[in-house]
Order: sequence, then C-alpha cells, then structure tokens
Amino acid sequence: MARKKLLFGNWKMNKTIAESREFAKASKELLAFADAKGVDIGVAPVYLSLSAVKEENPKLNVAAENCHFEDHGAFTGEIAIPMLKEIGIDWVIIGHSERRTYFGETDETCNKKLLALEKAGMTPIFCVGETLEEYEAGRTKEVVKRQTLKGLEGLGKQFVNDMVIAYEPVWSIGTGKNASKEIAQDICSFIRELVREQYGDAAENVRILYGGSVKPENVHDYLLQEDVDGALVGGASLKVDSFKALIENI
Ligand code: PGA
Repeated sequence: MARKKLLFGNWKMNKTIAESREFAKASKELLAFADAKGVDIGVAPVYLSLSAVKEENPKLNVAAENCHFEDHGAFTGEIAIPMLKEIGIDWVIIGHSERRTYFGETDETCNKKLLALEKAGMTPIFCVGETLEEYEAGRTKEVVKRQTLKGLEGLGKQFVNDMVIAYEPVWSIGTGKNASKEIAQDICSFIRELVREQYGDAAENVRILYGGSVKPENVHDYLLQEDVDGALVGGASLKVDSFKALIENI
C-alpha cells in the first residue's frame, strides 16, 4: 500500500491565539484542497493555541510541539499527555532539534515520551538529525542511527507502523541551506532500513518526512524521492498562502 503524503507545519514559538484562530479558519479551504490532492496536512501550534485551532477546524490534524512523559506531578512549566488528550489533541512532535539543543532533550527523554505516547494511543512525529559539526565530520548516519534506535527502543510494531519520523538536518533548519534531495533520500531510506531491522514490515508503512528549509519552490523535489513521504515545514507553513503553495506544488 502506498504511503499517503503528509505535510506538517511546525509553528514553533509563533502566532498568538488570535493569529492561530485566523489560520485555522482559513485551513478549512486548505484541507479541502489537500484532500482533493490525496495529501494529509496538519499544524503544530504552541500549547496555548491548540484548543482554538481544534475548535475552528476539528478535522485538521493538530500536534503539540512537545509533552512530558509523566501523566502529572511536580514538573513546573510542563504539559502532560492526558491534558492534551482532554482537548482532543492526538499528535505530538518529539525530539525537535530546538528542544534537543536549547531545552536538554536527550535520546533517553525522547524514548520515554514515545513510550508514553504509545500507551496513550497518540501519534508522534519523532525528529532526528545531525548538527553541522557532525555533518562536516561525516558522522550523519552514526548520529541518526543512535537517535533512531534509542528513540524507538521498546516500542510495539503497530505503533511504529503508524508513527511519523522526521529527518531534519540541524544545519538546514531555518537557514535556507537545504540538504540536497539526494541527501534527504539517502538518510530517509537509511532510517527506513533501521526500522526494517527492528520492526520488519512496519518499515513499509512508517511515514518518514524531510524537514529543513522546505519551501513551495523545493517541496516537489523532496517529495519525488522514494523514501520521503512528506515534509515538516517551519517558516513556510506560517502563512496560509504559502501553505497552500506547498500543497499545490507537491
Ligand atoms: P524550517 O523549520 O522549515 O523553518 O527550516 C523546519 C523545522 O524546524 O521543523
């Protein structure tokens, strides 16, 4: 079965509740457009805007940008999975490089969060990717392998089958410095092989996205690659017109 393409917008720390609501209203048209093209779409707003976006467009896939692995407790400033579920959220981005770099996310905490999401029946978008230093030292595959294997440790086959993994080379995020489509294909196919070794044919269904300076002008090239099942998009997902152009150009 062919894997359905997925285009997910990562809004990071952008948009107030009102601005998110505005986008969500307009997203009804985007969703109809994406449906007609046979593409899945979604957005990841800040926690504060999750309810508003769901309210305006209940059919849109909406992800939190992070979560805690415990259900509750003394973790000031954190958000637990049952709190997300209560407001109808069933997707979560895990291990984005900005969380790894600025907020101490590790392979171990990613793994704990993925295990907790499995228990809760949620869908993760699990991010992996090497830094510029690691890339220049030729260590991309070593790093991606470590992140992927540690992240997926102990997960069930069905969960892996249904999850999303995003390969985002850190040096290409928000820099306008794209990884070539050949690099994207090479690493996404490498990740699929890692999944195959651990989880057999779940590798055929797991969706693997490329992320890092994806724009309407280059999205097509990435998505033509055999093992690239979609894109995780930051900057170019913030405006309705640009999101629409991304869908259009797939
Ligand atoms: P970018 O961000 O598209 O702005 O490079 C991608 C991401 O961080 O997911």
